[in-house]
Amino acid sequence: MCGIVGYVGHRRALDVVVEALRRMEYRGYDSAGIAILDGQGGLAVERKAGRLSNLEAELDEIGEEHFTGTAGMGHTRWATHGRPTDRNAHPHRDASGKVAVVHNGIIENFAPLREELEKSGVELASDTDTEVAVHLVARAYEEGPTAGNFVDSARSVLRRLEGAFTLVFAHADHPGTIVAARRSTPLVVGVGDGEMFIASDVAAFIEFTREAVELGQDQVVVITEDSYTVTDFDGNSEVDTRPFTIDWDLAAAEKGGHDYFMLKEIEEQPAAVADTLRGHFVDGRIVLDEQRLSDQELRDIDKVFVVACGSSYHSGLVAKYAIEHWTRLPVEVELASEFRYRDPVLDRSTLVVAISQSGETADTLEAVRHAKDQKARVLAVCNTNGAQIPREADAVLYTRTGPEIGVASTKAFLAQMAANYLVGLALAQARGTKYPDEVAREYQDLAAMPEKIAELLTGMDPVRALARELSDSPAVLFLGRHVGYPVALEGALKLKELAYMHAEGFAAGELKHGPIALIEDGLPVIVVMPSPKGRAVLHSKLLSNIREIQARGAVTVVIAEEGDETVRPFADHLFEIPSAPSLLQPLLSTVPLQVFAAEVAQSRGYDVDKPRNLAKSVTVE
Ligand code: AGP
Repeated sequence: MCGIVGYVGHRRALDVVVEALRRMEYRGYDSAGIAILDGQGGLAVERKAGRLSNLEAELDEIGEEHFTGTAGMGHTRWATHGRPTDRNAHPHRDASGKVAVVHNGIIENFAPLREELEKSGVELASDTDTEVAVHLVARAYEEGPTAGNFVDSARSVLRRLEGAFTLVFAHADHPGTIVAARRSTPLVVGVGDGEMFIASDVAAFIEFTREAVELGQDQVVVITEDSYTVTDFDGNSEVDTRPFTIDWDLAAAEKGGHDYFMLKEIEEQPAAVADTLRGHFVDGRIVLDEQRLSDQELRDIDKVFVVACGSSYHSGLVAKYAIEHWTRLPVEVELASEFRYRDPVLDRSTLVVAISQSGETADTLEAVRHAKDQKARVLAVCNTNGAQIPREADAVLYTRTGPEIGVASTKAFLAQMAANYLVGLALAQARGTKYPDEVAREYQDLAAMPEKIAELLTGMDPVRALARELSDSPAVLFLGRHVGYPVALEGALKLKELAYMHAEGFAAGELKHGPIALIEDGLPVIVVMPSPKGRAVLHSKLLSNIREIQARGAVTVVIAEEGDETVRPFADHLFEIPSAPSLLQPLLSTVPLQVFAAEVAQSRGYDVDKPRNLAKSVTVE
């Protein structure tokens, strides 16, 4: 997720753009850059790796008199392709320097486009997918049917792109025009008086205007100081847009209208999973990111270790079930803080999967180093491009959720599970334990999950109501079996870290081995039911567990697949989730538990984004 802004109007564009980037820096802070049209055929571009303040220092040094134009654009980057360096920072320009582009999203077919450009003699200066777009637009503007027409040149290129993208183009020959387009990523128009804005987020322009227009899928918008024109990628102007008035204040705007970033991030989970999966199934095969591990090396693997902490560890526990089922490889999941002290049995045939949202967690980083010392292969699953853990790993698979600001992990957790499933499928594909058509089917099931998550999110009010009702409970227990067990652990962790409430997750089969002594009258127990279409024995045994605890006075709160009527008589509260393949169910069953914990925390008056005693990244052991 990146922050993008474009402006045409009467103010100094540099001031508007930099202030907008400041308001959107939460969307990405790997680098920042601006492009200003000076009105005399010039296009001034400055960009800098790191926080926005690095760019501001650079601009101060250059002197603002170099940036006098009243049109321009800006970008704060959350790196997906290409490390967070100056050369990969947006805006990117064509060879002539007259055309610039900024981008949020992923151009999935950038590789063949890059090859086409290089074969035609174009030298690309960065490792990004984005750069192909600006060279293609420059070429379309210079030659061919759209020569000389900036907007048509942009549209002709947009029709060739695959993936998810918001792209904003500026051309020195057209100083009073900015062209932008969106597919599956945010872009909104701000309609001012003698000035127009386009941005990823209304936070970019809310201080100048509250009149906005939401764009639809595959649309192009051209802004000038007194107009905005919307068409589709073919130039047809009969398109649906949605004008609206922003009724949030600035602080709320940065949180998408929510009181906390975490609440917004819960809502972003469909996109986080979709973006993480996007581009990893090409020509019928699973492809990882910076794989750097050949199929042969994957075939040589005879054991998998997953190392991580906290929620990332729980995502690894889910991965264990999927990877063992798909690959028949033994998978051990170990807390990173325990891993190297237990003297694990590792060698070059061991694959260590290190899962970390931040990519900087000290325990996990030290586990990676220990694994490398033992000659094991290390694959990182990480949300932060260029962080230490992916840098030291042999291969990397990035989750693409954009920055996760809330300390309690939500969208990163779901994206990690999605990424872990991809790792399992890549291993199964390389080892031939799954035929190509089976891998394809599993991937299609995965690709259908974001829509199910989105559907589930629309029905969370009853969960919030129960959370408020139970917010004074002294404790809550969580039960699950199979992949529902790690979900129970994750639900308990969320409640602990957000509401400071005693909560514990158990494998339901363990109840009789001690924990059932905890059951007493009125104690809430949240149970994650497996799909009734899955292993019947798991479902029936968990039903027995529910009866046992209900008989002892527990308040049974059951998360079950829609239509699972057998559980209804034993659920004091029943929350239904969409039907899904058993192994993928954690992508759904986790969501009500996140919402529950966040609502309990709010009922208790706690700061959901910054829980006490916690940090977003634990960089000390
Ligand atoms: C999860 O809600 C917590 N914030 C915490 O457990 C976190 O998952 C853990 O510290 C690991 O962080 P990482 O993924 O950045 O390595």
